[in-house]
Amino acid sequence: MAINYTEDIQIEKSKTSKIANVDFNNLAFGRVFSDHMLVCDFKNGEWQNPSIVPYQPVTLEPSAKIFHYGQSIFEGMKAYKDSDNNVFLFRPVDNFNRLNISAKRLAMPELPEACFMNGLKELIKLEKDWIPTSEGSSLYIRPFMFATGQGFHASPANAYKFIIACAPSGSYFSGKVKVLIEEKYSRSANGGVGFAKAGGNYAGQFYPTQLANNRGYQQVIWTDDNTHEYIEEAGAMNIFVRINDTLLTVPTSDRILDGITRKSILTIAEAEGIDVEVRKIKVAELIEASENGSLKELFGAGTAAVVSPISGFGFKGKDYELPELENTYGALLKKRITDIQTNKSDDPYGWRV
Ligand code: COI
Repeated sequence: MAINYTEDIQIEKSKTSKIANVDFNNLAFGRVFSDHMLVCDFKNGEWQNPSIVPYQPVTLEPSAKIFHYGQSIFEGMKAYKDSDNNVFLFRPVDNFNRLNISAKRLAMPELPEACFMNGLKELIKLEKDWIPTSEGSSLYIRPFMFATGQGFHASPANAYKFIIACAPSGSYFSGKVKVLIEEKYSRSANGGVGFAKAGGNYAGQFYPTQLANNRGYQQVIWTDDNTHEYIEEAGAMNIFVRINDTLLTVPTSDRILDGITRKSILTIAEAEGIDVEVRKIKVAELIEASENGSLKELFGAGTAAVVSPISGFGFKGKDYELPELENTYGALLKKRITDIQTNKSDDPYGWRV
């Protein structure tokens, strides 16, 4: 019988709440978790009834394929509360669609939209007191799916778990972000999984990022795997460059994540009358622009950090500083997008839910 994902969500409420232990004025990013989570299992070829249960550990067999072959994907999204306690999500269907794009690429089962959307809304209704309201904070929502099916055979699992967990969070980065342009390692390749939000894409970044950290840089600017001549992403975010008054970002591809913040920024920037170009950007163009003074801004964009300004970059042993401008595109675009997200402005695009 087909599952009705609105009526069939079983809710088991937590007997005690952890909320009184949380200092909502001093939130780190993704370190404390709310009282409940949504869980839905895939077995016998179909998604079962979702349920909302107290946040708790997951028990898996050592032979679960997530441990061996890394079938694991996730999304990042946020819930916001306005001054009248209305709760909002931002473009949630885009996260749902991207989760299924990732699922397909990792040979995992696609999730029904009603399971994701109704489960998410029910969970957020229950967790609404966990949504922080201080400037720059929000309830970070982490929908994720992984292989629970067992076996050492290198093939897709026959069982999966989908979970949505929530973490009241403050800013992702604190202070200035200095980045290193990567000359050796790659985040993704043509025909690979770079466009998917696969856990392994992030695991593969940690070692090169540690090497960069050891040299005093917080993040890596990824370059193309073939020539390392073109910039691709900024750490776990999409990258934006301002040369003179033009805002540039690179086109999405097999190698680049179709970021929801990225595409929202492009739409808003155009509406603001900013000259926008989506095209490949050479490292050499950045260096030249930095040297002749036309490189005005460099920033990363993603759900977690929203817009993260970059203060300087290193390349081939040399450091390049970004100018300290008063009115940046980054700050303007961050304000416009967060005003829409938090219901402080109109939403001409219908992004708020
Ligand atoms: C996000 O921006 O939500 C991401 O998914 C990046 C993550 C590594 C925090």
